[in-house]
Amino acid sequence: MTHQDLGHLYRAHLSTIKARADRALEKGGFDHLLVASGVEKFEFLDDRPYPFKPNAHFKAWLPLTRHPSCWIAYTPGRKPVLVYFQPDDYWHVPPAAPEGVWVDEFDVRVISDPAEARQHLPTTGKCAILGEADAALPGFEPNNPKAVIDYLHFHRAWKTAYELDRMRAAQRRAVPGHLAARAAFQAGASEARIHAAYLAATGHTDLDAPYNSIVGLNQHGATLHYQYKDAQAPGRNRSLLIDAGAEVDGYASDITRTWGDGDEHFAALVNAVDNEQLALCDKVRAGTDYRDLHLECHLRLGGVLRTLGIVDMDPGQMLATGLTSTFFPHGLGHPIGLQVHDVAGFTDEDGKVIPRPDGHPFLRMTRTLEPGMVVTIEPGLYFIPTLLSKLKARPEGKAVNWDKVEQLLPWGGVRIEDEVHCTDGAPENLTRDAFAAA
Ligand code: GLY
Ligand code: MN
Ligand code: MN
Repeated sequence: MTHQDLGHLYRAHLSTIKARADRALEKGGFDHLLVASGVEKFEFLDDRPYPFKPNAHFKAWLPLTRHPSCWIAYTPGRKPVLVYFQPDDYWHVPPAAPEGVWVDEFDVRVISDPAEARQHLPTTGKCAILGEADAALPGFEPNNPKAVIDYLHFHRAWKTAYELDRMRAAQRRAVPGHLAARAAFQAGASEARIHAAYLAATGHTDLDAPYNSIVGLNQHGATLHYQYKDAQAPGRNRSLLIDAGAEVDGYASDITRTWGDGDEHFAALVNAVDNEQLALCDKVRAGTDYRDLHLECHLRLGGVLRTLGIVDMDPGQMLATGLTSTFFPHGLGHPIGLQVHDVAGFTDEDGKVIPRPDGHPFLRMTRTLEPGMVVTIEPGLYFIPTLLSKLKARPEGKAVNWDKVEQLLPWGGVRIEDEVHCTDGAPENLTRDAFAAA
């Protein structure tokens, strides 16, 4: 992709963003859209900042991610104003002079004091102001009007060609990290060293990765959002579950891979989940209700539990009794883009909730798939002691081969996660494509 091609995609993207803003303002009865990038936040009683994470509504307009105290002011039909905060700061590196494919599309006003932004914001008319409360300037307090937010969130599910390009790039950035992590795992490294290998290969630091990577060896793979990285290697690396992404121009990737030590029982489990995952990715097609795909995932994973001799029950019965939820206690996936868990997975254009199936409280996506949407597909099977002990006390527990469960417990669990783009025809698996190209 040349700079020129990217510029072309970006301009088309910006037209879409403006058209969505026009309609959202109309729906809400507003004259202007103001978007605050957000402010730096500091540790209590200290001047040490937390990593800055910009308002996703701001990133939707332009690829500025290290830029607190900036504002976009958009009035339909006019060139948007970008208030660009560039402090005179010798303690930190201030943002560079405005530059990039976006720069000609904005009326850029550089300020050196956050309060100066007010001079560049509208003085008449009704403003929809999107941002966190602490971004407020006198007279410009974020009001996040529901009608505006609901509309923008709903439409963000459809990615522009520019966004798809950036999301593919975020996949390509993450994949070398996953390959380096696998090599470190196979060399017997600790979680901390595997994590360091991942970061080095992606060029990320902990602070700018899109989320806190999950790097779980052995039983730690059974903690869904395992948040630590042990510095000590366990002595025997049986399995690695690594859920780690990358970011490009504010767009995230979110990829999980599970690697084993060659144990045939665990390898059979990983292969079986991988097969079902691929089959589910192939069903990311226009017109499919994502809730149905989630329920199908339960049936497929139930089939794996039965085939591998872990549970002796019909998969339909496993789903009906909630048994599969012991081994697969999260949702099939979620929309992704400007945020890892992108907004509006379960609301319509007016913010009305599209309900989750009963008994599936963690599903993050209940919409029907349409061309242009990108979702994760992330089935998993885990051996989670607290959930297993609850199952053991229930009548359905009798269908479980507990010896087999005990045997697999030290490997923790399996999750395989890809991002899939729903198209007019066959789905595009952004993650597998990036692995294939690596
Ligand atoms: N990385 C969190 C998730 O997969 O949703
Ligand atoms: Mn995910
Ligand atoms: Mn993930």
